[in-house]
Amino acid sequence: MTGEEKNEMVVTPWEVRGKVDYERLIREFGTEPLTEDLRQRLAKYTGGVHLQLRRELFFSHRDLDVVLDLYDKGIKFVLYTGRGPSGPVHIGHLVPWIFTKYLQDAFDTRLYFQMTDDEKFVVDDERILSETTKLGYENALDLVALGFEPKNTFIIYDVEDIDMLYDIALEVAKRITFSTARATFGFQDSTNLGWIFWPAVQAVPCFIHKKLTGENVPALIPAAIDQDPYWRITRDIAQKLGYYKPAQIHNRFLPGLGVGGKMNASEPETAIFTTDEPELVKQKIWKAFTGGKGTVAEQRKEGADPDICTVFQYFLYLFEQDDKKLAERKRRCKAGDVLCGDCKKDLSERVNKFLAEHQKKREKARSVLEKFHIRRLYATSICQRREK
Ligand code: TYM
Repeated sequence: MTGEEKNEMVVTPWEVRGKVDYERLIREFGTEPLTEDLRQRLAKYTGGVHLQLRRELFFSHRDLDVVLDLYDKGIKFVLYTGRGPSGPVHIGHLVPWIFTKYLQDAFDTRLYFQMTDDEKFVVDDERILSETTKLGYENALDLVALGFEPKNTFIIYDVEDIDMLYDIALEVAKRITFSTARATFGFQDSTNLGWIFWPAVQAVPCFIHKKLTGENVPALIPAAIDQDPYWRITRDIAQKLGYYKPAQIHNRFLPGLGVGGKMNASEPETAIFTTDEPELVKQKIWKAFTGGKGTVAEQRKEGADPDICTVFQYFLYLFEQDDKKLAERKRRCKAGDVLCGDCKKDLSERVNKFLAEHQKKREKARSVLEKFHIRRLYATSICQRREK
């Protein structure tokens, strides 16, 4: 690949590379920018503007205003998000999940979480199904470690729970032509059939609440913008099937520790996984791409560039909660008052402190994981349907 091709922006559900231009994505994907008005509207229910909104990490949406209008009229919504278990969870994945938890607490609403072991199997020639399924249960521990409660959080493991999803997946698949799917996802003659059918399965949790409870309410999906193509096709057919169009709120990508793109599990040296040991975290951060100058003397004199620095982005996204302290770090960086080594050391300490706690909670989650399985809800709803 030439340098130019490497830099070119590619954002699909399966690949993100190059310098991501978020304004261009809003235009090309046809989403709406998340305005100050909407941020304030959300704050009315949640009691303040969340860090991820203040810092514009969530930057775009579809129908968030519609969902809030309905909410004002007494129609609640459910939350839906998910994970494709291709390896361990990295800290970028936590970004939309932390926000989802915040919305769930504020609106006291149900979350459906889809673990797509089937997707990760069909999109990768080398993968073995039992491996992605096993990773799914491991990845679910990370979700639980963030503090979700089983009473309103329901994890769907696709392969195990496909009987629950299949009728809706068929209804969806029947209404989407191959030509639409090809135009949306770039499918080719060589794409396998499993992959081509797959988007119908990712659509299902947008609608499953009605099947399980009889209640027809919209779903709101917090996720990074790479997942948006799924919602485009799902929104097109939702009303034909008698559902609300699913709404979205999109976040930016936490970058990897290298140059450009997003944190990506397939580049393990530039990703921080939630299961990484402290020494490994230190090593990865030590090698991170920053906006620093070639020599200490130069940097002291001219300052560095926090806007291109990956280390600064980690403070911005997750590891500096205090806006004033973040602004001060930026100022000192630009003035040459702080060196990259100082920021890296600081970040390593914070990441390792966070991970030590997270890893403890993650281990504890093993004993309660079963309580989050959607099967328990489905079993009740099957009984109710059979009794009718
Ligand atoms: P997956 O496993 O690629 O990603 C899980 C979630 O993390 C988001 N994400 C990121 N957010 C910030 N910074 C990053 N570097 C970063 N990398 C990934 C993704 O947008 C996603 O929200 N097909 C999906 C699984 C899925 C799903 C869903 C995701 C099924 N249903 C509904 C979101 C909503 C997948 O492979 O996600």
